[in-house]
Amino acid sequence: MNRFHDQTVLVTGGTGGQGSSHVRAYHQEGANVMIGGIDTERGAALADELGTRAHFTDLDVTDENSWSAAVRATESAFGALNVLVNNAGVQNPPVPIENTEQATWSRILDINLTGTFLGIKVAAPALRRAKGGAVVNIGSTMGLGGTAHYAPYVASKWAVRGLTRTAALELGRDRIRVNTIHPGVIATPFIQEPAAGAAAAIADFYSPEPFAIPRLGEPADVTRLLLFLTSSDASFITGAEYVIDGGLLLGPALPAEAA
Ligand SMILES: NC(=O)c1ccc[n+]([C@@H]2O[C@H](COP(=O)([O-])OP(=O)(O)OC[C@H]3O[C@@H](n4cnc5c(N)ncnc54)[C@H](O)[C@@H]3O)[C@@H](O)[C@H]2O)c1
Repeated sequence: MNRFHDQTVLVTGGTGGQGSSHVRAYHQEGANVMIGGIDTERGAALADELGTRAHFTDLDVTDENSWSAAVRATESAFGALNVLVNNAGVQNPPVPIENTEQATWSRILDINLTGTFLGIKVAAPALRRAKGGAVVNIGSTMGLGGTAHYAPYVASKWAVRGLTRTAALELGRDRIRVNTIHPGVIATPFIQEPAAGAAAAIADFYSPEPFAIPRLGEPADVTRLLLFLTSSDASFITGAEYVIDGGLLLGPALPAEAA
């Protein structure tokens, strides 16, 4: 399929993990892709590998000037910006609230929440110039409940939900749709490489075994939903939240003998 022919997509944190899966898929579907991120080496290598219709731009999502430069670079390389994917995000090392340093709290909120806010703020005029478009903010199933020892991360992802709804209201009349995807546990460095200070990878305490679909999510699972939500097939969907977790939030499935 070529659903994104003549469209330009900017993916933050597009240099690895889920972000690079999104970048590859958009590119394969005909889009021009701007890979935004802080890992210059990997971003440039990915852009080189994809060849035409792919560029890398240094983008630290916590910095408004960096956002302005990235949006300018996107419009100057490809003529417009049609889709923004606010994918960049970081996890805190797991510690109780009373042992959480304020610096850690601020860093996680800065990247996950302020980074998403700045992205919408700076990209909105460009999306308007393109006569409409779509934004997807990546939340988390952790943003739908509570998770002990992850207060900064949980709070940041909860807040992204309110930001998404507000942006959807403000931008809908300009034909700009804004939605959130909440991934469950997805096999990326995020869960496989323990955060600084963590005793074990998240994957160790989130074994998929008891759940309805007993496997970890793959980046491609999220990518397929993202492409749908930013395509014209989703033209009446805004301010919505999509959970993609293989049934994790349903709780443990019945054991085979009780079914
Ligand atoms: N993997 C999971 O289980 C999972 C579950 C729910 C939600 N998520 C969310 O999915 C998104 C992608 O995570 P992932 O699983 O690919 O993990 P990842 O660690 O592979 O990717 C995170 C990306 O964010 C980038 N990044 C960090 N700080 C940045 C900054 N200041 N500016 C720009 N980029 C920055 C990193 O360089 C990296 O490319 C994140 O928002 C994460 O919170 C992940």
